[in-house]
Amino acid sequence: MRVCVIGTGYVGLVTGVCLSHVGHDVICIDNNEEKVKLMQSGQSPIYEPGLSELMKSSMAANRLQFSSNLKAGVEHGEILFIAVGTPPLPSGESDTRYVEAVARGIGANLPENVYKVIVNKSTVPIGSGDWVRMLVLDGAKEAKRELVGAGGGAIATAPTEAPAVTFDVVSNPEFLREGSAVHDTFNPDRIVLGSNGSRAIALMEELYIPIVERQFAEDQAAPPVPVVVTDLSSAEMIKYAANAFLATKISFMNEVANICDRVGADVTQVGKGIGLDSRIGNKFLNAGIGWGGSCFPKDVSALAHTAEDYGYDAQLLKATIDVNSRQRLVALEKLQHELKILKGKVVGLLGLTFKPDTDDMRDAPALILIEHLNRLGAKVKAFDPIVSQSGIRNGLTGVIVETDPERLADSCDALVLVTEWKQFLELDFAKMGGLMNDPLIIDGRNFLHREILEQAGFRYVGIGR
Ligand SMILES: NC(=O)c1ccc[n+]([C@@H]2O[C@H](COP(=O)([O-])OP(=O)(O)OC[C@H]3O[C@@H](n4cnc5c(N)ncnc54)[C@H](O)[C@@H]3O)[C@@H](O)[C@H]2O)c1
Repeated sequence: MRVCVIGTGYVGLVTGVCLSHVGHDVICIDNNEEKVKLMQSGQSPIYEPGLSELMKSSMAANRLQFSSNLKAGVEHGEILFIAVGTPPLPSGESDTRYVEAVARGIGANLPENVYKVIVNKSTVPIGSGDWVRMLVLDGAKEAKRELVGAGGGAIATAPTEAPAVTFDVVSNPEFLREGSAVHDTFNPDRIVLGSNGSRAIALMEELYIPIVERQFAEDQAAPPVPVVVTDLSSAEMIKYAANAFLATKISFMNEVANICDRVGADVTQVGKGIGLDSRIGNKFLNAGIGWGGSCFPKDVSALAHTAEDYGYDAQLLKATIDVNSRQRLVALEKLQHELKILKGKVVGLLGLTFKPDTDDMRDAPALILIEHLNRLGAKVKAFDPIVSQSGIRNGLTGVIVETDPERLADSCDALVLVTEWKQFLELDFAKMGGLMNDPLIIDGRNFLHREILEQAGFRYVGIGR
């Protein structure tokens, strides 16, 4: 099928590349010309395991192109994905201006009498399906008025016949995880399709056949991927509810960890003990220094904000956010407890990105830590397997980014493990400890092996243990 994906960030690019890999003819549109040029040259602007390889092979097979020409994209695609960002506003609501611009732009370029499916893949506030429909129609009317105006001169403001555009809007929320986005796209737990139009749903089901049938899955013999078909608002709500639930699960475990710290229990053992209960499940039970990234913080805040708009005080969601804000300072408290005065001390951060296997620094817990350590007069250094190599410093200030772990350890008074990169399990801690002023490590993710660290001469401090 012919597909157009608008917005080539973590979601859009992965979606475009994976759909082309399964055999569709895809054009990816972005309004960032530099990014488009980079992608046209076969390079991915983001780091995602496996993405570059698939991108190159689809381009070589002529199933994947990149452009900044929205009109060309709209003409090409039977299915048009909107995958632009919806970052948070200071109030907590989503900033939907990029979605708005794209929806109007699609409308302005929709050919008449050619049916299209317009898909919201961006995470958008509940009710956005109908809003996008209205914007597309507005865009189409506006374009037609301009066309009549250009041809008819003085009659430009006269009422124009409604444009004969035919389309349906679908909400198809994305559940991929950064760091395993390609894998997740080929091995989803479910596909959610929300729409009021059965024709659109049928086309979306056809699009996803190779994925539903697990033709590109790790386990090709697994049962088909469940497809959940709903109305528009329910699909939009599923995305928010899923993220809010996961964030709440982590905040819950962090709360338990803080109590463990006080009563002398070990939260890692508690997690194991409760996770074996199938009603609870063993995922997302790791305590640490809080969640971050481009999705959880903004999605939980946006849902709480939507609730408020409709006269409901979402107390549990607010508590989830509050617990997380406090949790992000737990490593700082532990440093103060161990080192007392932080002024003039050198603290080394292991990891900067909000999670491993990504280069994404959006709302990363490391940023808050750096800010507070700077405020308290500490010198901050960091080593991150991706950020240290890439040379990209995306708004990082107040931190010296070192090129290897030994340089990081040199003259440090403490290390803090911020991101659980697998590579950190293999570090030569004995050597690193020897280079430090004080071999102290705060394991902000309960990720490292305490015994190994202690054998290497470190004082090990975990979270809730
Ligand atoms: N990142 C994730 O892990 C993830 C997971 C699930 C859902 N989502 C949701 O998916 C959406 C996209 O997230 P992302 O992380 O990929 O965003 P991103 O910021 O990485 O990428 C957005 C892209 O859209 C482009 N863009 C903006 N305005 C445009 C326009 N008018 N025309 C063409 N391109 C335009 C930008 O240049 C950028 O390349 C968001 O709503 C997000 O909440 C993200």
